[in-house]
Order: sequence, then C-alpha cells, then structure tokens
Amino acid sequence: MKRVITEDEVRKWRNGLTGNVGFVPTMGYLHEGHLSLIRRAKEECGQVAVSIFVNPLQFGENEDFDSYPRNEKRDLALAEEAGADLVFIPDGTEMYPKPMSSFIKVEKGTDVLCGADRPGHFDGVATVVTKLFNIVQPDRAYFGLKDAQQAAVIETMVKDYHIPVTIVPCPTVREEDGLAKSSRNVRLTADEREKAPLIYKSLTSAAEMSARGTHPETVKRELHNQLKQTGGRVDYGEIRLWPSLEEADELHPGEPLLIACAVRFSTVRLIDNIIITPE
Ligand code: PAJ
Repeated sequence: MKRVITEDEVRKWRNGLTGNVGFVPTMGYLHEGHLSLIRRAKEECGQVAVSIFVNPLQFGENEDFDSYPRNEKRDLALAEEAGADLVFIPDGTEMYPKPMSSFIKVEKGTDVLCGADRPGHFDGVATVVTKLFNIVQPDRAYFGLKDAQQAAVIETMVKDYHIPVTIVPCPTVREEDGLAKSSRNVRLTADEREKAPLIYKSLTSAAEMSARGTHPETVKRELHNQLKQTGGRVDYGEIRLWPSLEEADELHPGEPLLIACAVRFSTVRLIDNIIITPE
C-alpha cells in the first residue's frame, strides 16, 4: 500500500491504472464503518484509494475541528488490512494552498436536518468531495448511509455536475448494542456511552410505528419523547422522504422514508437514521 501526501503523487498513481478505481473519502480515526466501505470497494474495484483529511471547511466556528480524533499510524494499518492500495493524507496547505474563491453549494436538501443546525456544513463537504474526486478521478465512490443526508447531497451534486463517478451508498455498521459506529463515540463519557444506544432503539421503534401506518406527526412526537431519555439534547428527530429529503407530512405507502435524528451530549453530537419503506 502506498501512502502519499501530494496531489501530484495521486495523479501519478492514477495515470498508471487501467481497471476500475474505487474511492473512500474519510476524515480518519478509522473504525468498522469506514473499513466496511474499503472492503466493499475492494470487492468491486481493481484498485482502491482512501483519503484521510479532516476538512476545516465543513466545521463551524464552535465545532470540534481541533479536537477531532486523529491517529494516522493506526489508520494506515487498518486501511491496508481492509484492502486499500493508496492512502492520500494531504495536509491543509495541499488541499487549500490559498483561500478558496469558489464553492460548490448544493441547494436542495441542505437546509434541513443537519444542514439546519450546521449552516455551511454541506457546502464544505460538497466542495472538498469535488476536489477529491478531481484529484483521484474514481470510477466508484463509497459513502455510508450513517450520514444519509451527506450521501443524498453528494448524489445530487454528482448528477447536477455530470461528474463521471458512481456513488455507492453502503449500510450503517453498528456496535452490538445498536450504537452506530462513529469516530466521535470515543469522546462520550461512560454515562453517555451507556445511554447512547437509546438513539437506535428510538429510531427502531419509530420505524416500527411508521411501518404500521402511524401518522408521521405522531411518530415524530414519540421519537422526540424517546430520544430525550438519552439525557442528551435533541437537535432534531424527523421523518422525511428518501432520498429527496422533502417533508413527509402524511403517510406515503410504498415510498422510502428516512427517519433521522441528531442528539447532542456534553462534547459530542451524534447522528443516526433508519430508512424504511412502509407497505
Ligand atoms: P467520516 O465521518 O470520516 O466518514 C467517512 C465515510 O464513512 C462516510 O461516507 C461515512 O458515511 C462513512 N461512515 C461513518 N460511520 C459509518 C458507519 N457506522 N457505518 C457505515 N459507514 C460509516 O463523512 C465524512 O468523513 C466527511 O464528511 C467526508 C465525506 C470525508 C468529507 O470530508
């Protein structure tokens, strides 16, 4: 496996390849969620590139850019074991040699859910992912449904701009108690870690209510009540049409629904979701 830090090195690697290239963009501190994407990419593509870059552009002023967990040595070993052929670890000046003078701004689906709490976040994601796509030029790029809104926003952007890459959405990997794996989980206190699995339990019971045909407003109210039991602050708990992210204000049999939430603990904000199709 190659570890590279410059755009030129990635281009050199890319130019020598003929088969399909798979790409897994990450912010590092890799866990089973990330590794499942790398393994899937390796199954489907001849060569797999992984990027590790904590992108300042997608963090708000009071967010956790500085305290975001990092461990390059461990990440490299895990990425290699999962099947990565190239790991691109640029630094801030490689990705942003000077302040950006243009941004990718996805309008649809970015002012709701996480976008409502984190203004500018998805512009930062869309912009860095476009830059990474242009550097790596992958045939297929793998995104986790743990960040369902992100996957939907990237898919919209790729279609809008005719970017020649297939987006492959992949299922959420969870701990045994249901908590979605996240690099940020290590920053939960012991008490918060104990309560955090209630997030997935709340989503599961909301999904069951929706599958039984309960009205979205009723499901949403119950979801909020249950999420409050985590002891965290509920940023949102919502039901939306998937993948349009439009409001699901009434029952939509046969249409996929995204049941999603964000819960803020003392120093960590966790997100999770379930996608279901009520009969
Ligand atoms: P990061 O949070 O590191 O996640 C990288 C990829 O791993 C994303 O596609 C995310 O959805 C996926 N992922 C994270 N946890 C997962 C889990 N439990 N199960 C399955 N997949 C999971 O998302 C980002 O980084 C950044 O926004 C990025 C796309 C790299 C742009 O900076």
